[in-house]
Amino acid sequence: MKIIAGNWKMHKTFAEAKEFMNVFLPNLPSSLECRVLIAPSFPLLGSMLDRAQNRPIEIGVQNIHDHEQGAFTGEVSASLVKGMGAKFTLIGHSERRQLFHETGSFIQKKIKRALMTGLQPILCIGETLQERESGNMQKVLKMQLFEALDGCSQDEIAQIILAYEPVWAIGTGKQATPETAEEAHLFCRSQIAIKWGEAVSSTLPILYGGSVNAANVKALMQQKNIDGALVGGASLSPESFLSIIQYNY
Ligand code: PGA
Repeated sequence: MKIIAGNWKMHKTFAEAKEFMNVFLPNLPSSLECRVLIAPSFPLLGSMLDRAQNRPIEIGVQNIHDHEQGAFTGEVSASLVKGMGAKFTLIGHSERRQLFHETGSFIQKKIKRALMTGLQPILCIGETLQERESGNMQKVLKMQLFEALDGCSQDEIAQIILAYEPVWAIGTGKQATPETAEEAHLFCRSQIAIKWGEAVSSTLPILYGGSVNAANVKALMQQKNIDGALVGGASLSPESFLSIIQYNY
């Protein structure tokens, strides 16, 4: 089953989230061909979880801290959000890596924390334009993958979702072509196979992210190794997110 995840980033007030759900929920089709996930800002989590109860959508978060609790002013623990009912967490989004200087080893600890807490990690990886143009795409993807997943068992890999998000395509309107994305996905899958075996790599969901919208999602989803999408800007409007999750109709 494909997975379509909305990443709201630092968007939406309480009233705007309510307005979104007022349109989104009544228009959700009764049967969906994909898992639908939304990651709102932390303060919206409680009300989003209440609204999503008994509906075919899963609510999660955009980040967690690697420690269980402690003196980390301004941070939020995995056990807090898990206890509230969050199902998943993004980890290592390129905005966290670039703007908040998250390192590979920090990301690795967060993956461990998420797994330990029972939150499904969505590990985000992706190269910058400069890295792609200098021929270093594969090297970068491999490094980000292995840094983040080092020490994971096959069982742990089986619980993870991977998101390939080329940094040059995020929020720029420049989406990777389905073929370009497919090539990167295939590369990531083959690296997982080398380290953790065919069985786990063939079932690992790999989402594509970067300027996905209602017009380009279908062609992306038709690629063999693209198992879903991580959607930023186009997940903010209920109409656009509804068309994305029904890309097949
Ligand atoms: P975008 O963001 O869809 O707005 O490009 C994707 C993401 O950052 O996850």
